[in-house]
Amino acid sequence: MNHSSDTALPSPLPAGGEPGPVIARRSRRKRLAWSAAGIALAFVVYCAYALVYPERMPPAVGAIVEDLTGANPHPVHLLRPQNAPLSAVALLGKQIFFDTSLSASGTQSCASCHSPQHSYGPDNAFPVQLGGAHLNQAGYRPPPSLTYLYRQAPFSIGPDQGDTDAPVDMTQLASQAAGMQRAQKTALAAPAAPAMVPQGGLFWDGRADTLQDQALGPLTNPVEMANATPEDVARKLLQTRYVDQFRQLFGPTIVGNPSLLISEAMFAVGRYQIEDPSFHAFSSKYDDWLEGKARLTRAELHGLQLFNDKDKANCAGCHLSQPSKDGLPPLFTDTQYEALGVPRNPAIPANKNPTFFDMGVCGPFRHDLVQQTQYCGMFLTPTLRNAAQRKVFFHNGVYHDLKQVMDFYNLRNTAPEKIYPRDAAGKVRKYDDLPAQYHANVDVGDAPFDRKFGDQPAMNDQDIQDIIAFMKTLSDGYQDGKS
Ligand code: HEC
Ligand code: HEC
Repeated sequence: MNHSSDTALPSPLPAGGEPGPVIARRSRRKRLAWSAAGIALAFVVYCAYALVYPERMPPAVGAIVEDLTGANPHPVHLLRPQNAPLSAVALLGKQIFFDTSLSASGTQSCASCHSPQHSYGPDNAFPVQLGGAHLNQAGYRPPPSLTYLYRQAPFSIGPDQGDTDAPVDMTQLASQAAGMQRAQKTALAAPAAPAMVPQGGLFWDGRADTLQDQALGPLTNPVEMANATPEDVARKLLQTRYVDQFRQLFGPTIVGNPSLLISEAMFAVGRYQIEDPSFHAFSSKYDDWLEGKARLTRAELHGLQLFNDKDKANCAGCHLSQPSKDGLPPLFTDTQYEALGVPRNPAIPANKNPTFFDMGVCGPFRHDLVQQTQYCGMFLTPTLRNAAQRKVFFHNGVYHDLKQVMDFYNLRNTAPEKIYPRDAAGKVRKYDDLPAQYHANVDVGDAPFDRKFGDQPAMNDQDIQDIIAFMKTLSDGYQDGKS
């Protein structure tokens, strides 16, 4: 006990009392002990409160709590689409969606390639599906999931607005766009002239605008449901069990007007996809987390942080992960088109022909932008919701699991020899699924693609595992599976 230092302290008692020095010291120690205990208790209570209600904490504390508990410190209320009973038109569309009698083979419906049990994507790992009258015609691309298309805008080429809602002068932008080498979008630096990027639309190349426009495509596509003409489709519709519903909904004359019949049928298929909640359930663990109802594991949270990190994985640069300001849940796509230069898939029969190239926006399956070669190699950024359930990835189905996809993002530039085949002379054939004159269209500006040959890759093995763990939180049916 050091007396001299004790006496240096001011007396804790109000002036006037005359306690002896020993008593004063004792009661002072007691008070100190009590207040220390009080502070400790308050801290414990505060911590417990912070763990239970992380959303009520100030941001700095929230971030610590997020790291400790995996809870979202800033929960939001998500504006999901209304859950109403299907309209009569949508119910009709549902019957069409599952009707195999509308195909030339008599055995294929929309659901054959867009399986409801597989987020309306393929139920197998084939790179492309077989169709046609005898189910022996191979397609060119894997069927995308039909989920989360309800907000898809028609195809357009316009400024990359990111998430700003600022109105833009379209004429001015169109003139600026002319002559731009590539519609480069970077999450980091705003370009001098806003980049003009293809966006919206359906199919991997955006060639259909609406679900109604789109639906006739597979019905008359020779490698899909393979009807020779739309009139064939109309004839088959007239022979269905549900033909009376067309009369009830659209009037009795519809059966004598094939083109109107088809157009109403396609409208109905579109309504089914828009109205049925299974196409946009928003019932993933991540949705629960956004609303403060679920906690992410350490790996999932770390994965999310990397996913959003503009200098690291930067997945959210294109696969948007934040709800909109008014609470619309994120769709994990910015609905824009990008050329990533994924390797050629030799398993696609059409690729046996070395002069065949699927170049997306500039053709060969869409014809209007053939001259706009700055868009060659660009494909629609797909949603990553339910992607963990898919067995084929990218527009040519070249990969079969998320680890392969991650290796592509990580190693495409830093170690291309691990991604692409070599030619006869042993040279790595980078971007081998795009003619050499369009290689400049491939995105080398956005992370993780900004790394150079031989650089340290953007992600290590643990990072990759954690991002995959996070992507698994995007699968619908989280609560269903928990119970
Ligand atoms: C033989 C398999 C097959 C059948 C049958 C089929 N589809 Fe598809 N579907 C595909 C493929 C492949 C694509 C992608 C084609 C492309 O991008 O060029 C696709 C794309 C789509 C898309 C665009 C999705 C997106 O993300 O842009 C919609 C919508 C769609 N199909 C709806 C339907 C409907 C409705 C039917 C029934 C009338 C149907 N499909 C029948 C294989 C099929
Ligand atoms: C520059 C924009 C961009 C960035 C950054 C980006 N993606 Fe993509 N992503 C795309 C585009 C475009 C496609 C489709 C490309 C194609 O098929 O040719 C795609 C496809 C995918 C697919 C395949 C989905 C399917 O249905 O086939 C997965 C999985 C994926 N991305 C995950 C990621 C992850 C994980 C990251 C971060 C490491 C990431 N993406 C970063 C644009 C991007």
